[in-house]
Amino acid sequence: MLTGGGDCPGLNAVIRAAVRKGERHYGDQLVGFVDGWRGVVEDQTMALDVERCRGILPRGGTILGSSRTNPYKVADGVNRVKSTFAAQSLDALIAIGGEDTLGVAHRLCGEGLPVVGVPKTIDNDLSGTEVTFGFHTAVQIATDAIDRLHTTAESHDRVMVCEVMGRHAGWIATYAGIAGGAAEVLVPEEEFDIAEVCEFITRRHESGRYASIVVVAEGAKPKEGTLALQSGETDAFGHVRLGGIGNLLAEEIEKRTGFETRVTILGHIQRGGTPTAYDRVLATRFGVAAIDAVHENAFGSMVALQAGQIVRVPLEVAVGELKTLDHHLLEVAEVFFG
Ligand code: F6P
Repeated sequence: MLTGGGDCPGLNAVIRAAVRKGERHYGDQLVGFVDGWRGVVEDQTMALDVERCRGILPRGGTILGSSRTNPYKVADGVNRVKSTFAAQSLDALIAIGGEDTLGVAHRLCGEGLPVVGVPKTIDNDLSGTEVTFGFHTAVQIATDAIDRLHTTAESHDRVMVCEVMGRHAGWIATYAGIAGGAAEVLVPEEEFDIAEVCEFITRRHESGRYASIVVVAEGAKPKEGTLALQSGETDAFGHVRLGGIGNLLAEEIEKRTGFETRVTILGHIQRGGTPTAYDRVLATRFGVAAIDAVHENAFGSMVALQAGQIVRVPLEVAVGELKTLDHHLLEVAEVFFG
């Protein structure tokens, strides 16, 4: 088993569930790879058994460690992965990850390796599953933060910009925006017009309300030519490191509206700490389903949630296209804009 990419509350719950059912029900011997695909490339493992998994259900992070190593970007990476499979006499590999980790899993399946995927990401942008574990926890953390921002915003008659995660998709921003009563939600799926945002805020404040919460996803983009964005470093999967749109937005809102504006960037707080009960249950269901999939030779598939049931979908479907925001949801948020 491995956990790859950005960590996410609920990873340990998946590990614990797969180990428990694997060891106790199927009589499996499990092994964990350290730091995602890096552990497989370098054949670095740790023992995984029921004893090792005691007490980890409510713990955030991952006992296996994680990294964004891409075997396809490491010298001789794929052959080294194959050698590790042989050296460890692996019957199967459970890869727990998002689009990047599962993208590698899919390609390796194409090379004949027996891999099963488990969908993980707080961003909730993986196709084939209605929800990924970790998303619910991130939304709860962001909502709690917005609730707190409301009271201080009202005390000081301020605009509060709250930047949340969501590189390509505005799921966290929209859910937390609706749950937290935001006056504006900006998402990567729709370029925003800064003039319109400021107009909304001005109108809102003129109508007697004196504080506004603007929730912005880190991947939100202004319409071309309206605001200059900074660019950051890229990782092994070619993703730019984000985080900065909140500052830019707050500065511009204050300048254009004249209302005092502050920014809070929630960043990795959304990924840390204990998973919600919902995520613990979902992650546990995924873990059990993943080890069952291994024993039914369902290689090349990912366990997923559809209509409340755990199903299997081809990894190809999961990594094909990102699951961007349902526009009906944004329309619900928009009812409360301005
Ligand atoms: O993909 C999940 C995610 O949390 C994104 O929302 C965010 O852009 C990224 O990971 C941050 O990654 P890192 O932990 O490498 O800074």
